[in-house]
Amino acid sequence: MKPRHFLTLLDLSGQELKDIIDRACELKILLDQGIPHELLRNKVLAMVFEKSSTRTRVSFEAGMNQMGGSAIFLSPQDTQLGRGEPVEDTARVLSRMVDAIMIRTFEHEKIERMADYSSVPVINALTDDYHPCQLLADMQTFVQHRGSIQGKTVTWIGDGNNMCHSYINAARLLDFELIVACPPGYDPNPELVAANKDRVKIVRSPEQALPGSSLVSTDVWASMGQEDERVRRMKDFEGFEVTLELMSLADENALFMHCLPAHRGEEVSADVIDAPDSVVWEQAENRLHAQKALLEFLLC
Ligand code: CP
Ligand code: NVA
Repeated sequence: MKPRHFLTLLDLSGQELKDIIDRACELKILLDQGIPHELLRNKVLAMVFEKSSTRTRVSFEAGMNQMGGSAIFLSPQDTQLGRGEPVEDTARVLSRMVDAIMIRTFEHEKIERMADYSSVPVINALTDDYHPCQLLADMQTFVQHRGSIQGKTVTWIGDGNNMCHSYINAARLLDFELIVACPPGYDPNPELVAANKDRVKIVRSPEQALPGSSLVSTDVWASMGQEDERVRRMKDFEGFEVTLELMSLADENALFMHCLPAHRGEEVSADVIDAPDSVVWEQAENRLHAQKALLEFLLC
């Protein structure tokens, strides 16, 4: 039988996503109260990182430990993947030894090939195209602060990147409207936009995008792998920094989110991200709870 993978949010139904968010909230309470929840006892997660990570690595490893299992960190520098062993072979070998494989890499197609050859669940921990684990945490954070996101307006400001693509998928699954404000040349994938044209709108300025918005989210202008484009991007994204002035155009109670790491003075001003009521730290913490719920969903 083919295992359940988590390559994009669309590997879940809307109801499954809501259930995972609810469970993440329960697991957060169990941890806060010191109640053991070793639901993954003796389970092992292999974590393949071909790009840097702080939050994803620590949250998956801590989460596996808290649930009674363990995680193994694998980098291309220290494994045969970095010496050209095909991902198909790596998938077949790892899946005979571990219970799930998490991978952060460049091409999304690579993770699809890994999933095709893996007999255990494969989890996307970020590709050039999608970052679904982050959306679990973002949606959990919204629900905890504001309740259901259904019917709300969400604004994405900045690059039409992997995070933006996952926001588009979340809009579809959770039934909210997504307004993307990006400069020309930085649109999200046109096919994905076309497939979701009933809930995704692209505009060219944050000022146009923000009125009526309950959630404002942004991300770095140059993602991992785009370091060479940094100078050009800084120029192209002028006017897209999320400032207090821009936030004042959104709903009075609008939340600001950022997947982190953040560059203050570029995509977000310090007074927005460091505001006393900023939820970004809780959003980061929720990576732990949401991924524990995901692991339980995939492995139990
Ligand atoms: N948001 C996020 O995925 O952070 P890391 O790159 O630190 O894992
Ligand atoms: N878009 C960013 C997200 C980092 C978590 C990147 O891919 O580098």
